Amino acid sequence: MSKDVAVADLDEAAARAELTRLAREIGRANAAYHGADAPEISDADYDALKRRNAEIEARFPHLKRTDSPSDQVGVAPAEGFEKVRHDVPMLSLGNAFTDEDVVDFMRGVRKFLGLAEDAPLDVTAEPKIDGLSLSLRYEGGRLVRAATRGDGTEGENVTANARTIADIPHALTGPAPEVLEVRGEVYMAHDDFAALNARQAAAGERTFANPRNAAAGSLRQLDPAVTAARPLRFFAYAWGAHSEPVAETQSGALARLAQLGFRVNPLTKTCPTTDDMLAHYRAIEAQRATLPYDIDGVVYKVDDLGLQRRLGYRSTTPRWAIAHKFPAQLAWTRLEAIDIQVGRTGALSPVARLHPVTVGGVVVSNATLHNEDYIAGRDASGNPIRGGKDIRVGDWVQVYRAGDVIPKVADVDLSKRPADAVPYVFPTACPECGSYAIREPGDAVRRCTGGLVCPAQAVEKLKHFVSRAAFDIDGLGAKIVEELYQDGWVREPADIFALEARYGPGNLTQLKNREGWGEKSAAKLFAAIDERRTIPLARLIFALGIRHVGEVVAATIARHYGTWEAFLAAMDAAEVGQGAAWEDLLNTDGVGAVIARALVTTVHQEAERASIDRLAAQLREIVPPQAQASDSPVAGKTVVFTGTLEKMTRAEAKARAEALGAKVAGSVSAKTDLVVAGPGAGSKAAKAAELGIETIDEDAWLALIGAA
Ligand code: IVH
Repeated sequence: MSKDVAVADLDEAAARAELTRLAREIGRANAAYHGADAPEISDADYDALKRRNAEIEARFPHLKRTDSPSDQVGVAPAEGFEKVRHDVPMLSLGNAFTDEDVVDFMRGVRKFLGLAEDAPLDVTAEPKIDGLSLSLRYEGGRLVRAATRGDGTEGENVTANARTIADIPHALTGPAPEVLEVRGEVYMAHDDFAALNARQAAAGERTFANPRNAAAGSLRQLDPAVTAARPLRFFAYAWGAHSEPVAETQSGALARLAQLGFRVNPLTKTCPTTDDMLAHYRAIEAQRATLPYDIDGVVYKVDDLGLQRRLGYRSTTPRWAIAHKFPAQLAWTRLEAIDIQVGRTGALSPVARLHPVTVGGVVVSNATLHNEDYIAGRDASGNPIRGGKDIRVGDWVQVYRAGDVIPKVADVDLSKRPADAVPYVFPTACPECGSYAIREPGDAVRRCTGGLVCPAQAVEKLKHFVSRAAFDIDGLGAKIVEELYQDGWVREPADIFALEARYGPGNLTQLKNREGWGEKSAAKLFAAIDERRTIPLARLIFALGIRHVGEVVAATIARHYGTWEAFLAAMDAAEVGQGAAWEDLLNTDGVGAVIARALVTTVHQEAERASIDRLAAQLREIVPPQAQASDSPVAGKTVVFTGTLEKMTRAEAKARAEALGAKVAGSVSAKTDLVVAGPGAGSKAAKAAELGIETIDEDAWLALIGAA
């Protein structure tokens, strides 16, 4: 490191280049540290790199990278832990931000259940602990496994670490179900957090930005001795798999968990009305500052577990619970620069580089500015926002942070505007590839027209391709694909699958000889890539990175078309805005004209299509979606409900049918398999009779699905 230029002597361009180099070297050192067979740099050298990076950032705060190594705390990568599949998924919660949202939530619950607006309905309200969730599996009353949430379906086995947490019993106290998964939040108390950071700083080790990061970093330590030395705590609030019922109510279940030896949060209260819920929210909010741990809201849960079962789930969140978040936290600071980042779909996103400021306990130096209209002080329709004030470099701006979301610039103080500040001019060319950046009518976002030739788009597409919900290749994270892209080894997804043939054993240039790699790690990566040649259809569609096509839409499209071939054929046949294939695409649940257009135009785009075909050619098997609950008699059937249902609401009937793998349609056609007709059924029942489609009444339906 002797050849390094002193930080004080760096000019801006050199500093920028240095930060890029340091991010790469530190990233590589991190990867090497966690890959067992790779060479390591000494701790002292590692610390020197981090220190230099921090010094340059302190001198040029606006140059701080969004992936700055300073923001990365000591979290071990996923490869270090064995993966664990959750029998019962670990879901997240929907959010409410205002009292209105809570009122709407309760209205929705009552409507779904067919309850009158004023019918009594107990709901528990408890603090939302700001930590990380953990699932503890007990068999015969003994702790046998602890797993993190991960992506909700698959987490990491952290049993050895969990055993070091005093609040987690190794054996349950009192009679317990043979199998019981207890779920709750691991967190670090404020005092313990401060003491830990003081110890870390004194020892010259990295400190943590907030208690949640400290808890996560401490739980996910490869060495349980390190976890043991970190004071973690645990509140139980839920459960997963269980061999017999835990209780009949949420509040009863919490009492049971307490009997079994867990800490449950003492601020939990059962509220009979929405007013009581909101009053308890305020009571908890008032105590927030004096609580010894971080909370970020209040969780409401329908108390009756029978009603919870009826309410069921949307794709990733329960209908019977919601998180009421506390208002966002604010701070004022100087806007030092505006940088433009180019995303996967070519969107030019303005990023505010801020003089670092603490917002609710977290140091923020980057924030989003959304788009060019937002900077100019108007909304998408041209109406003024912030009273029409624009945002300029040099301005004194208000930064806003809520939960985990990216901080944003919310307001600007004109009284502090420097005299020489000039309006920001949004670029009309892509800063990465120089192509025109244009705005389509009605689009708030300016986009690079470079497509696959734009390196930023290509890299972001690749990062998306390997992300967790897409191909999720073990050992191939965003950093590594980016490096492989820079060096020309991987330019598009298909290249990932050609890596072994091109850079595996027997080739002149080999992955194992790259810095940060070794024989074992290269072989491991090739094996992980090969494993993903078998991929579920929904993941493949999501991985293509088509605009507007998120995980949920990809899954419904996969279910709608069933196979890759059928999907491609349908896209080939579809014409935007007309014809049977287009109509059929619009018939997919959740697919409107905007999504449909994005799908069709992408597949019709020649270069994109060629790249997709090259990818498909590398795959071994594209696994069709399983009809959910394929053993149910209605799985895969298209059902139409008509007339009045008496035993449940239309929404509940639809949710039930879908949970059993049926498709619920709004109108009767030749594709309908079954019509459920209640009293007052009119034209739909008549049409079913005309087409000879089986029609049954509500009781017969309930008997059919085993709910009578
Ligand atoms: S209930 C099916 N209760 O919040 C819902 N979650 O945003 C199960 N959390 O992943 C979660 N305190 O990590 C529940 N009292 C509480 C909670 C809580 C914190 C976390 C949990 C969950 C996240 C969802």
